[in-house]
Amino acid sequence: MQIVILKNSAEVAEYGANIFIKQLQNRADSVLGLATGSTPLALYQGLIEASKANKISFKDVTTFNLDEYLGLEGTHPQSYRYFMNEQLFDHIDIDKANTFVPPGDAENPIQACDGYEAKIEAAGGIDIQLLGIGRNGHIGFNEPSSGLMSRTRVKTLTKATIEDNARFFGTDEYQPHLSITMGIGTILDARKVVLLATGENKADAILATVEGALTASCPASALQLHKNAVLVIDEAAASKLSDCEFYKHIESENQKLMARLGF
Ligand code: F6R
Repeated sequence: MQIVILKNSAEVAEYGANIFIKQLQNRADSVLGLATGSTPLALYQGLIEASKANKISFKDVTTFNLDEYLGLEGTHPQSYRYFMNEQLFDHIDIDKANTFVPPGDAENPIQACDGYEAKIEAAGGIDIQLLGIGRNGHIGFNEPSSGLMSRTRVKTLTKATIEDNARFFGTDEYQPHLSITMGIGTILDARKVVLLATGENKADAILATVEGALTASCPASALQLHKNAVLVIDEAAASKLSDCEFYKHIESENQKLMARLGF
């Protein structure tokens, strides 16, 4: 895993956005895996700005979101489809027919999960998958104990995740306890994975992801197996790692090497 430790959440968003900008400049018909939640918001803003400045276009891009609440239609303000429209798709030149979010309103969710996997495959697989991380180490809605080779399926949310996400729902509003999520195996199939984490409340999860054992108890630890995974994190999220200075040193050596090789 490449570990990039930056000062704050603004730097994390900018660094993350640049990875996606470069990807789209190199390959206009990229297949992007996207995430919801608070963490990617500023990155999406960066992509919107780059698109408005004509540095990138989404005209030929296809996207697949990680997850969706089961039981919410895409028009529901708390659905992840609604979130993506509001936070990104409505502001860029993407063809919405090429944006896929697991169908939370599917009549047969099990079939819908297989269908989602088939669509990813038909698109040629995901070039870059964006991830946030839960306090419990979840990626997508793959909660602790999720199979490390799992595929898109229906998952029950943990109490911790329901509590963390309760802030988005009104007090009397129905909050789903089930989701459809890409599996950990689906995520690991992406050609590159970019995980962003900011804030002290992610420090335990980042410690377990980077320095812990490979275990279903911390789903993000599965990224240790990925050939091309980068963790872009701020100082606060990195604060429990055993030796931040060493990780920074590795990254600066990395950068020097890349510059020497003309990347
Ligand atoms: C969102 C998702 C989740 C979030 C995670 C962190 O699509 O799959 O795994 O990335 O819960 O959420 P935030 O960014 O709100 O802390």
